[in-house]
Amino acid sequence: MNGFGKAIAHSNIALAKYWGKADAVRNLTAVPSLSLTLAALRTVTSVRFDPALAADEFNLAGVSVGGRPLLRVSKLLDAVRDEVGSATFARVESVNDFPTAAGLASSASGFAALAMAATRAAGMDASLAQVSALARAASASAARSVYGGYVSLGARAESAERVAPGAAFPLEMLVAVTLAGPKATASTDGMGHTQDTSPYYSAWVEAAPAVYDEVARAVHAADFDALGPAVEHSALLMHASMLAARPALIYLAPASLRVMERVRAFRYSGGRAYFTMDAGPHVKVLVEPSAAGELEVELARLEGVTQVLRSAAGPDAYWVEQ
Ligand code: PMV
Repeated sequence: MNGFGKAIAHSNIALAKYWGKADAVRNLTAVPSLSLTLAALRTVTSVRFDPALAADEFNLAGVSVGGRPLLRVSKLLDAVRDEVGSATFARVESVNDFPTAAGLASSASGFAALAMAATRAAGMDASLAQVSALARAASASAARSVYGGYVSLGARAESAERVAPGAAFPLEMLVAVTLAGPKATASTDGMGHTQDTSPYYSAWVEAAPAVYDEVARAVHAADFDALGPAVEHSALLMHASMLAARPALIYLAPASLRVMERVRAFRYSGGRAYFTMDAGPHVKVLVEPSAAGELEVELARLEGVTQVLRSAAGPDAYWVEQ
C-alpha cells in the first residue's frame, strides 16, 4: 500500500456538552451532545502510507511530534490498517488555522480530518458514518466534526449524526480567545478525574440528557430564545461538575468571567447572545449574524481577551486532491 489522502475538517463547539465516558476503552460518551460545526476553524491533514517508513510519523504545523499525540494518531491509523489488512506505516502532516490545544477543539477537527484522510489513503470506500466512528474512537468530539451544521452524538453512540444544516438556523459563533498557551489538563484526563472524584458528576450525567433534549428541540424549531438559555445551562452544569472535583478543575480564567459578564450585559440591554465554554479558558458566544459585528468589537476590548474569532456554520469534512 502506498496511498495518499488529504482532507479538511472543521472544528465544532458543543451547544449541549458531553463530559465523561460510558466506556473508556471504546471511548463511548456518557451523555448525548449536540454541536455546531464552525467554518472558520479548520484542520488540513494529509496521510501517506509509505513502505519505506519504520514507524508512523506525525508533523503538526511543520514540527515533528512524538509522545501521546503520536500514539493517538497511530491508534487511529491502526484501526484503518486493521480494516484493510495492511502493516504499512504512514506520514501524517496536519495544519490548524487556529490556536491548538487550548480548548479550541483542535482534536475535534484534527481527528476528523485524520480519519477522512487515512481512509482515503488506505483505499477504503468509507461512508461519513464510518469516518465518524473512526474519529470518535480517537476523540469523541471529533465524531461530530465529520458533519457540517448542527450535529449530534448520542450517549454510547458509535458515530455522530446530522441534525440540521447550518443554513436552517443561521447563527454565528464568536470565540473570545483569552489566554495563550496549551490548556492545563487534557479533556480525557479531566473527564476521568471528574468521574473519579466529583460528587456532582452523577448529578451532571442525570441532568444532561434533558438539557440535550431542550437544545435539540430548539435547534429543530430554530428558536434562539429557547436555545440560548439551554446552551448556557449545559456549559455551566458541566463546569460545576469539574469545579467539584478534587483537586478542582478550574478552566475559568478572569477574562473568561469578564466575557460571560459582558454577554449577560449585552442581553440586559436588549441584545441576544449566549455563552458556552469547554475545557479551556476561551469563551464561545452564540449570536445572530446581525448582532455579531457589534458584540465582536465589545468582546475584543475586554481586558485579557487577546483575539476574537468569528465564524458561521461550517460544512461536512471533505477530501481534497494533493
Ligand atoms: O472528545 P474530547 O476529548 O475532544 O472532549 C470534548 C469535551 C468538551 O469539549 C468539553 C465537550 C464537548 O462536547 O465537546
